[in-house]
Amino acid sequence: MNGATMGGKVTVVGAGFYGSTTALRLAEYDIFDTVVLTDILEGKSEGLALDMNQSRSIEGFETKIIGTTTTPEGAGYEATSNSDVVVITAGLPRKPGMSRMDLIGVNAGIVRGVAENIAKHSPKAVIIVVSNPLDEMTALAQIATKFPKNRVMGQAGMLDTARFTNFVAEKLGVKVGAVKTLTLGSHGDTMVPVPSRCTVNGKSLAELLSESEIAELVDRTRNGGAEVVALLKTGSAYYAPSAAAARMAKAVIEDSGAVMPVCAWVDGEYGISGVYLGVEAQIGRTGVVKIVEGSLTESEVAALKQAAEAVRAKQADVQTL
Ligand code: 2OP
Repeated sequence: MNGATMGGKVTVVGAGFYGSTTALRLAEYDIFDTVVLTDILEGKSEGLALDMNQSRSIEGFETKIIGTTTTPEGAGYEATSNSDVVVITAGLPRKPGMSRMDLIGVNAGIVRGVAENIAKHSPKAVIIVVSNPLDEMTALAQIATKFPKNRVMGQAGMLDTARFTNFVAEKLGVKVGAVKTLTLGSHGDTMVPVPSRCTVNGKSLAELLSESEIAELVDRTRNGGAEVVALLKTGSAYYAPSAAAARMAKAVIEDSGAVMPVCAWVDGEYGISGVYLGVEAQIGRTGVVKIVEGSLTESEVAALKQAAEAVRAKQADVQTL
């Protein structure tokens, strides 16, 4: 807990497990004046906000949480007005056996409506999308808000990277703090875990694990979300996802300049243009301040380009959804 409220308002749209956990994490940072939590289920976000506010004296944070019921037509969005940051978690999670892409039809309608309402009430906000399929919903939120592309980004790389880090740390029996990993590309089949950028206490992963062991961890990372979904049976992961989304919102409000893997609009980097894709980016008050083009092996760049083409095709589809 930082203890010092620095101000600002963040809205989290959707009070499911992902949204409510994100809202609580953001409140516990104690850096915002207000966290607004919304949901279309009447009373749900109000009840959760009441509960979270009652934890403030125990956990020692002053941020006020406001819950509000919204409708797809736009009622209730006044409470979100002039948010500095908005995290969109609205939409359905997948069920066991589903791919994130199976959600595109139903979630496109939900995300489009939410994004339009948010744009109306918070025209200067930075938007962080977490709804799935992630890369496509991020592109759609930019289209629906008509915001500059730097002010709309998606959360995926932070989460996928954290999963990769956890798997490497467990495999080698070391602290997660000793491990650095990176994943780029899509939040789906064309995710690009980047072993060449992975180190353990400064040593490259290739020095510590065999090629097949690394491939196994890469594969488990790529299927990290599905592994949790299969175990939970209803709903998808939210502890690691909410940690990732909340850190991105924190970097925005603090104008920290932190470099994070996020889903951002790529415009020439790695020879890729005109698509939302998982890359490393510097995050600040304007959202994506700049894309950071790191060093990748030839095959990693090729995989990134392949991911770009896969998501480009789907992102073209969402324009009409
Ligand atoms: C995941 O990978 C929810 O897409 C998210 O768990």
